[in-house]
Amino acid sequence: MPCSIQHSLLTLILLILIAFTYTALNSLRSPSVLPPKVNTISIPDNDFSEIYHSPEVFRLNYEEMERKFRIFVYPDGDPNTYYQTPRKLTGKYASEGYFFQNIRESSFRTDDPDRAHLFFIPISCHKMRGKGTSYENMTIIVHNYVQSLIDKYPYWNRTLGADHFFVTCHDVGVRATEGYPLLVKNTIRVVCSPSYDVGFIPHKDVALPQVLQPFALPAGGNDIENRTTLGFWAGHRNSKIRVILARVWENDTELDIKNDRINRATGNLVYQKKFYKTKFCICPGGSQVNSARIADSIHYGCVPVILSNYYDLPFNDVLDWRKFSVIIKEHDVYQLKSILKDISDAEFISLHNNLVKVQKHFQWNSPPIRFDAFHMVMYELWLRHHVIKY
Ligand SMILES: *[C@@H]1O[C@H](CO)[C@@H](O)[C@H](O)[C@H]1NC(C)=O
Ligand SMILES: *[C@@H]1O[C@H](CO)[C@@H](O)[C@H](O)[C@H]1NC(C)=O
Ligand SMILES: *[C@@H]1O[C@H](CO)[C@@H](O)[C@H](O)[C@H]1NC(C)=O
Ligand SMILES: *[C@@H]1O[C@H](CO)[C@@H](O)[C@H](O)[C@H]1NC(C)=O
Repeated sequence: MPCSIQHSLLTLILLILIAFTYTALNSLRSPSVLPPKVNTISIPDNDFSEIYHSPEVFRLNYEEMERKFRIFVYPDGDPNTYYQTPRKLTGKYASEGYFFQNIRESSFRTDDPDRAHLFFIPISCHKMRGKGTSYENMTIIVHNYVQSLIDKYPYWNRTLGADHFFVTCHDVGVRATEGYPLLVKNTIRVVCSPSYDVGFIPHKDVALPQVLQPFALPAGGNDIENRTTLGFWAGHRNSKIRVILARVWENDTELDIKNDRINRATGNLVYQKKFYKTKFCICPGGSQVNSARIADSIHYGCVPVILSNYYDLPFNDVLDWRKFSVIIKEHDVYQLKSILKDISDAEFISLHNNLVKVQKHFQWNSPPIRFDAFHMVMYELWLRHHVIKY
């Protein structure tokens, strides 16, 4: 009877399916292929929209990263001095601290170097700075530490460090590592200051976003009607472009440009509240091209105006910065007001709405959560591991 044959066939298929699922689940449970703790089959918690250069590539590759990416953290060095632990999770260089903490809290870390795609050199230059170490001594400390890893483990010599990385937000880290040329030439440098004058190599190194956390006030968004000031900047005049910005626009009635720093802790959080009331927040480079002001602007929903000739913006190979920021050259500072006024309301609304979508990418959490700053940095590392396989 066809009906009963169909029935037994169905039962058979069902049995095979059950057996298959069981084996698959079992193999997942075996320690050799332990999956990351992150649930990758979860409901999409990200809007894969036009803020990305290639939304679909990002989605698929990100999921693969969550499943497969493994990092070996060298266990060496005395945690009481400069190794393993960050200096702190607050202040201007918090990104460095969060990365150190997050890598341990995440499922990317493996204790088995043979399974690792990349090797993390956990040296905290920020901590050296805190202890008042001289630049000369920092260079020696970094050199000796890396040399001890090279002598002890076989991993560095296989690629001369190409599958190794270190993370530093303070620019002392950049200087302290210069004493070991292969650290600059060959390893992946995850740094807050991606200036070309310190040898930043975009396809090799990673721009770490500089985020000053915790934020004093909640994230902005859907508050366009309150944004009545055209542009805002207040800060130190510690670079040529800032001096010009202040000189040209300080008395303007539409641009709120203060050639004086407003302390973040001032009174009623005057500084932060300006970010809620402004459409465009001007982000000129200071002593470094990077500045915590960019992440502040993103958080408070004020469209950042990147006023810099050279800045490899964080995640710019993944995120399309032109969809949520205004990028202008330093010589455009004289036309700043007309450039901003030429942006139509519709364009501004679109920039603002996209800005709200990228907020999570510029936020650190402990423990880390999907698509946050930590995961974006991991994704950048994941992209780089494709070209340096041992
Ligand atoms: C540098 O290192 C030398 C030798 O260890 C030490 O005597 C000196 O105090 C250090 N200087 C600083 C500023 O860290
Ligand atoms: C790696 O190479 C260096 C230089 O040739 C050598 O001194 C070191 O012992 C090597 N490391 C290991 C673990 O073999
Ligand atoms: C606009 O500003 C007012 C006064 O500060 C505030 O009460 C209100 O919540 C703001 N609106 C939005 C959408 O944030
Ligand atoms: C702004 O106003 C101050 C005080 O009146 C004045 O000294 C300064 O020259 C003005 N700056 C510009 C660019 O007009």
